[in-house]
Amino acid sequence: MVARSGVFEVIVDASTLEERVRRLASSIEAGRSGAETPLVAVGILKGSTLFLADLLRRMHGDVRVDFMSISPYASAPDHPGKVRILKDLDTDVAGKDLLIVEDIVDTGLTLSYLRKTLGSRGPRSVSTVALLDKRVRRIVPVPVEYVGFEIADVFVVGYGLDFQGRYRNLRQLLEVRDVARLAADPLLPAGSFLDDNLRRGVSFGP
Ligand code: XMP
Ligand code: MG
Repeated sequence: MVARSGVFEVIVDASTLEERVRRLASSIEAGRSGAETPLVAVGILKGSTLFLADLLRRMHGDVRVDFMSISPYASAPDHPGKVRILKDLDTDVAGKDLLIVEDIVDTGLTLSYLRKTLGSRGPRSVSTVALLDKRVRRIVPVPVEYVGFEIADVFVVGYGLDFQGRYRNLRQLLEVRDVARLAADPLLPAGSFLDDNLRRGVSFGP
């Protein structure tokens, strides 16, 4: 069997994620104390799904959920940050408090587009919670009111984040230390990676 160690490294384990998400939910609620308008959590598909679900479980009061799916315009390389809405909200957000829920903010181009678009629909407020912030990569300054973890310029998967659609179901956040090797071996089975980690005593849950 090909040795797989060295491709991935756990950077945030499941219990640390759980604790951080719990604290983020408390901070968001504290920031809204006294608000009588509903909060609409806007999950950005697909990377935010696990984070969003765990966050919602920790929140109280009138919290609603909607989703958006967006994609960069591949045909407009001269306009980085121009994105296409693949799935829009079902909700009329006028007068509501919006909380954009992102997996990761990198250059900031996606989030700045989202804030502009959603802000033009008459919400009472717009704020953002991002599980991860690669601040060193920022091209456009954009407010991120709540950040789970600031990380270096590394590629991460797990807990909703993917590489070619895979690894979203992992309960930890992993740094891909050898992106070239993973790209060259797209069938790298998550199973053998999990076995590797289990041998090293990393728990992937029941
Ligand atoms: P921008 O650059 O617009 O992009 O802030 C944010 C989007 O880029 C993706 N992204 C990642 N996805 N691991 C991922 O799985 C990463 O390390 C990573 N860095 C950026 C992601 O889709 C995010 O919404
Ligand atoms: Mg992705």
